[in-house]
Amino acid sequence: MKTTALSPRRWIDACLQKALNALGGRQAPPTQPAPAPERLGAPPQVLGPLRLTLGTGCRVSDRITFSGRGAGDEVPELFVGRNVDIGWETTIAVGRRVTLGDNVRIAGRAVLAGYPGHPQDPAAWAADLPGANLPNGGTGVGDIVLEDEVWLSTGVVVGAGVRIGRGTVVAAGSVVTHDLPPMVLAGGIPARVIRPLAPNPSGHRL
Ligand SMILES: CC(C)(COP(=O)(O)OP(=O)(O)OC[C@H]1O[C@@H](n2cnc3c(N)ncnc32)[C@H](O)[C@@H]1OP(=O)(O)O)[C@@H](O)C(=O)NCCC(=O)NCCS
Repeated sequence: MKTTALSPRRWIDACLQKALNALGGRQAPPTQPAPAPERLGAPPQVLGPLRLTLGTGCRVSDRITFSGRGAGDEVPELFVGRNVDIGWETTIAVGRRVTLGDNVRIAGRAVLAGYPGHPQDPAAWAADLPGANLPNGGTGVGDIVLEDEVWLSTGVVVGAGVRIGRGTVVAAGSVVTHDLPPMVLAGGIPARVIRPLAPNPSGHRL
């Protein structure tokens, strides 16, 4: 029997498209051609419309969810830089845009929550209405940026509208509700700076 081999890039595209078709979603064309990642677990679960750009040399583990649910007509966008690890059972929920810089490391069971999922009023969520009484114009949607070389340890939650500075490490189980500066160890709920991190001789921590 004759078989046709798919390149890794076409394999993930086909898997993503199949998942999207099954869910009634659509895959927007990427902003630039994304080269094949080096190592993939099972294809990530992709929910909703999402524009996805994946840099070279990324490793995406098993049981990952990428979801897109914007507040307007814009297609939510997840931009992943080069040489990024996304660990087991991590969820990235994109409201408008989530950016992961180069060399970012995300350990297992992290959640990047770029949209709230529900309004805060029970009558409104029971009626499946959009956000109310939430930040960012009532939508709760906010961009998330992990600058280059950020490391999120196991089980970290990052809220909407948060930017984490280059080279910063966030300790396990932390909830990041506000921006964090570059080159610090941060931790706790909510996450606060614990101590600065020394740069290595090349200029930054790797
Ligand atoms: C980030 C991490 C590596 C930092 O380790 P470290 O540099 O040895 O830091 P320390 O253990 O010396 O702790 C420094 C301070 O931060 C606090 N701290 C450490 N982990 C913390 C956490 N998860 N939440 C809140 N505070 C924390 C410590 O209590 C300590 O505070 P103190 O000085 O008042 O006693 C570690 O905290 C961590 O999260 N490890 C898990 C890594 C992980 O998830 N790996 C999975 C594979 S990627």
